[in-house]
Amino acid sequence: MTVTGEAGTISALLKEERRYPPPPEFAAQANANDPAIYARAEADPEGFWAEQAARLDWFTPFQQVLEWKPPYAKWFLGGTLNATYNCVDRHAKTWRRNKAAIIWEGEPGDERVLTYGDLLREVNRAAAALKRLGVKKGDRVAIYMPMIPELPIAMLACARLGAPFTVVFGGFSPDALRERIADSAAKVAITADGGYRRGNVVGLKANVDAAISGETTIEKVLVVRRTGAPIQMQEGRDLWWHEALDAEGYPRVPCEPVDSEHPLYILYTSGTTGKPKGVLHTTAGYLVGTSATHRLIFDIKEEDVYWCTADIGWVTGHSYIVFGPMVNGATNIMYEGAPDWPDKDRFWALVEKYRITILYTAPTAIRSFMRWGTEYPARHDMSSLRLLGTVGEPINPEAWVWYWEHIGGGRCPIVDTWWQTETGQIMISPLPGLTTTVPGSATKPFPGVKAEILDEAGNPVPDNTGGNLVLSRPWPAMMRTIWGDDERYVRQYWSKYPGKYLTGDGARRDEDGNFWLLGRVDDVLNVAGHRLGTMEIESALVSHPAVAEAAVIGISHEIKGQGVAAFVTLRAGATPSDQLKEELREQVAKVISPIARPDKIFFTAELPKTRSAKIMRRLLRDIAEGRALGDTTTLTDPAVLAELKKRYEEKES
Ligand code: PRX
Repeated sequence: MTVTGEAGTISALLKEERRYPPPPEFAAQANANDPAIYARAEADPEGFWAEQAARLDWFTPFQQVLEWKPPYAKWFLGGTLNATYNCVDRHAKTWRRNKAAIIWEGEPGDERVLTYGDLLREVNRAAAALKRLGVKKGDRVAIYMPMIPELPIAMLACARLGAPFTVVFGGFSPDALRERIADSAAKVAITADGGYRRGNVVGLKANVDAAISGETTIEKVLVVRRTGAPIQMQEGRDLWWHEALDAEGYPRVPCEPVDSEHPLYILYTSGTTGKPKGVLHTTAGYLVGTSATHRLIFDIKEEDVYWCTADIGWVTGHSYIVFGPMVNGATNIMYEGAPDWPDKDRFWALVEKYRITILYTAPTAIRSFMRWGTEYPARHDMSSLRLLGTVGEPINPEAWVWYWEHIGGGRCPIVDTWWQTETGQIMISPLPGLTTTVPGSATKPFPGVKAEILDEAGNPVPDNTGGNLVLSRPWPAMMRTIWGDDERYVRQYWSKYPGKYLTGDGARRDEDGNFWLLGRVDDVLNVAGHRLGTMEIESALVSHPAVAEAAVIGISHEIKGQGVAAFVTLRAGATPSDQLKEELREQVAKVISPIARPDKIFFTAELPKTRSAKIMRRLLRDIAEGRALGDTTTLTDPAVLAELKKRYEEKES
């Protein structure tokens, strides 16, 4: 693994001199208003996190903050609690019972508002239904749903029972769903008859049927009626959500007290091998990490209307739609559909309609908005906004400045938040009110977080030099292991630099201590903020009968940040054609998800390989980016490469 941060990007970033100090009016009211917070947390990280943990409700108080036996951490030992109690019940005992927890809008324009009291009722009903289906503490539940309120309700119902859930993004294929169900050995699946996207119904139930045909661990399927689209219901296995909940009436299902380290959920994410990793998050540390970061980074106040635009199928939605905000008793906006439906101003119409105050979205979305033009935000009164955030990939300074001017009206601090599925919580980000922001930099590690940039030998690199970003101290929401695969957990994250967590990202730090993220340094792609493994896409391609071998690389893409390029060699008898390219794209969409569909496919007689038969992806990247070819001395046959380069350039021109 080497740092390949491109020289062009680094020099462009080095020129960034614009500074945005916190607006004084914002700073005056900010949750994070004391610069000493950093020194305090640094002097006593465990004390800092214990202070944050005091904001939770505990059934039994914890006895010890941390037990660190690298690479295994236990946080808040001896404590018992329940995630749902902290997200719902405790608010429903106060005036927040009648405060909006979720203000939801469907893509067709239908609306629902659920107060914390409503949420408590629905979560109880769902928990009772799940219990009747045999779900007990420790059992796994798979959730495959559109962005409708029943999705967080299902998650919270599982957590109420102490049943770890695994949410599978609704855009994933039946094959991907099958793999995740099998790995987690889920007993019950929760889905819907479909969801709306760009005016169409996206069917989900049929995908579940395909994913659990034949041998499966799934015994029962609960189905929410969202669209009324026709679906098959299998007698004895499938139940309608509304019927199952109605049969329960208005029950009270006690919150199962669980140990601090009880598994809360498993979330699958792509890694450097073909098989997705089941990232395990546990209860107390995760709730502490997400709620503390949500409070200090998003400056959440009682009266805020907070909107994180992510899909709950990704970690951003888990941490910053469901758990962080709900522990904090916040009002969440939830939107089902696409940002350009019915028109390209849908997000801004929502901001105006609900007087949204905090908006958290992704750079890829911002780049689309930039391309669509300023007339769309200009149609709406967005004066309610007071804070903006981004997540998922590096934000280019132009997009940052556009966001600042055209969405934030030049008055809203921007928090560029760096983190991962594995970290569970934001790790590097400005604290609005304290941090002077710089377009393109995620700025500083969160208080108590220790981030370093190391060279291959494990030495810290000098300022302004690229290296591997590592986290050198445990943090509460860190992943605990890969579900069922401790060995992979150790190998993947903790073996390069023992005792330090390897992020897989390259970074540099400038002379002011600001961190600049340089993208992945491993075989992981970030396509429109979605994480994909090159090996996964390669396996999907090779599963097509015409394909002998495939190599996948990331290429620059104006909107998506990265796109997917595939170099494919065919089996004897197969003939390259545009139709075959289309079939291969479809194959990837079918096996993984439409988001993984290659942007470019190149047929080639051979792939450049080292003498030990490793495909030289670095050289493929050089070709695709039009760079001079790097060192080719280890190749078996350098002529293969020259031919490939020539053919690639012919196709491009
Ligand atoms: O490469 C980093 C990038 O997204 C990766 C994590 O992806 P995932 O686990 O899907 O989680 C995404 C949402 C937290 C990281 O390894 N990334 C995420 N946020 C940023 C980022 N890169 C640069 N700047 C960010 N703010």
